[in-house]
Amino acid sequence: MKQGTGTVLVTGANRGLGLETCRQLGQLGWRVWLTAPDAAEGPRACEALRSEGLDVHFALLDVASPESISRLAGRLEQQGIRLTALVNNAGIAMEGFDAHVAEYTVAVNFLGPLRVTERLLPLMEEHGRIVMVSSALAELKDYPHSLQRRFDPPPSKERLVALEWSFVEDVRAGVYADRGWPESAYRVSKLGLNALTRLLAEELEPRNLLVNAVCPSWVRTQMGGPHAARSIERGADVIVWAATLPPEGPTGGFFRNRRPVPW
Ligand SMILES: NC(=O)c1ccc[n+]([C@@H]2O[C@H](COP(=O)([O-])OP(=O)(O)OC[C@H]3O[C@@H](n4cnc5c(N)ncnc54)[C@H](OP(=O)(O)O)[C@@H]3O)[C@@H](O)[C@H]2O)c1
Repeated sequence: MKQGTGTVLVTGANRGLGLETCRQLGQLGWRVWLTAPDAAEGPRACEALRSEGLDVHFALLDVASPESISRLAGRLEQQGIRLTALVNNAGIAMEGFDAHVAEYTVAVNFLGPLRVTERLLPLMEEHGRIVMVSSALAELKDYPHSLQRRFDPPPSKERLVALEWSFVEDVRAGVYADRGWPESAYRVSKLGLNALTRLLAEELEPRNLLVNAVCPSWVRTQMGGPHAARSIERGADVIVWAATLPPEGPTGGFFRNRRPVPW
């Protein structure tokens, strides 16, 4: 293995930015754990990268399922795997807006990264990197002060989880607008993810782990659609950059085009 490389696990990696992140890190000489929630699509994507000569392994992972996360962690532990980097990439932007959409979006985009990170933490090497794939739609400047104050400064992890659930409950009760929430579960889930990034960065600093959120910009994936401005290759660049930061690299930041952006 080349110097400066290691083992990375990427969530939601059977297509889109996750798959491209696996490819680029594999090309840099990393051993890659490509994870995906589908038992057919995941292995197919893994095979495609192997046929390009890359060191890629597949593991099933549905980030919305604590059981699935636990099974994966158990498997990695059994094999004595240590992780140099973890990329929380899996994400959804569902059609429509109701309590189900709110609950499932928060489960995948916010609780998923929280649970995956906490469960895989014991496997992380010192100076490891944790990357949260976020969005410009989580930039606080675009929200009213009343909403900004709920996420900035971030409350404790427990309060943050309760805050995300209060959004789901407010949608269920039909009072989300009165309570100042935007009509977008995706936005609220990524606001939570950014606040979580800040909390984890502080918590994990004593372990020398670097935790950062990145925005890939608007990218031509299934989620971004065919008219997005950026190619998948360029979109993955900032993710790969954050996964390969040197030990003295930044932590607790939000980055686009490899440059910091305000929360
Ligand atoms: N594309 C953009 O313009 C853009 C902009 C800003 C941020 N982002 C963020 O970038 C990340 C990747 O997005 P993308 O554009 O590559 O989207 P994508 O092409 O729609 O891919 C999403 C990936 O997440 C997986 N996924 C969905 N639910 C999951 C679950 N419960 N457990 C594990 N994996 C799950 C999907 O698996 P299946 O194939 O099985 O559904 C797929 O592999 C997301 O976090 C997204 O929010 C994207």
